Amino acid sequence: MMKGLIELDEYLDLSDLDSVNKEFEEVIGSLRDHWRMFYSDTRETDEDGNLLKDNPNVHMISLSKLDEDLVNDNWDRYFLLDNSKYWINDTNITEKLPNLTKMISKLPFENTARIFAVFTRNQLRFSKRPILTKNGNEIANHRDHPYDKWRHEMIWIRFSNAKKIFIMENNKPNYIKGSSCWFDSRKIHGTETNGYGVSLRVDGEFTSEFRDKLFGQGSKWMTLNEKDYDNYRKVWH
Ligand SMILES: [Fe+2]
Repeated sequence: MMKGLIELDEYLDLSDLDSVNKEFEEVIGSLRDHWRMFYSDTRETDEDGNLLKDNPNVHMISLSKLDEDLVNDNWDRYFLLDNSKYWINDTNITEKLPNLTKMISKLPFENTARIFAVFTRNQLRFSKRPILTKNGNEIANHRDHPYDKWRHEMIWIRFSNAKKIFIMENNKPNYIKGSSCWFDSRKIHGTETNGYGVSLRVDGEFTSEFRDKLFGQGSKWMTLNEKDYDNYRKVWH
C-alpha cells in the first residue's frame, strides 16, 4: 500500500529555506490585509451557518488566486485547487516575498495552481505560548476530501522545526522528519506548532519525472475533470 507521507528533502532544492523563513517573518505583518482565516474543514458550520474556525490565530496567505473571469459560478471551487488553468499569481504577495517565490519556482511541478502559506500568529504579536485547539493541535485533524480517484499532487514545506505535520496511520500519528513532504490528503492529518510556525502548500501537476519517483514508473496524474466541478463536496467526517 502506498505510504501516507513521503519525505521530499532529497528531491528538492531547499537551500534558501532559512532566508525564506526570515523573509516571511519580516514581511508578514505588512501584509495583514491579505490574511485569511484558515479552515481545515470548510463544511462545518455553527447554528447560524457560519463556518467554524479551527483556531482564530491560525491564518493563511495566498500567493495565487483564482481567475474570476474563468470560473463558473456553479462550480465547487475546491475542485479547482490543482488546475493551473484557473489560477494566476497574486503579485501583491509574491513581489513582497521574492525568496519564497523563487524557492517555489524551483519545485518539480509541470505547473502550479493553489499556493498558500499557513501560519500561527496572535493579532498583536507573535505568541510565546502554544495556541492549541481543544484536541491539543494547531488545527483540527481532518482529511481534505473523500475521493479515491483524486490524488493531490502537492508539496508541503515547513519553514522551521517549530511546526510539524502528521498523518494518522494505524491510529498513530506519523510525523514529518525533514522539512518537506508529500502526504495523502485523503488520510486524517493535522499540525502542531510551538506557537509560531509557518508552512507552505503548493498544489498543481508534478513533472512526470517527479511523479514517477514518488508514485512509481508510469503513474498518472489523478485529478478531476471539469464535469465534476459542478458537484459539491460530499460530507465525509
Ligand atoms: Fe488538510
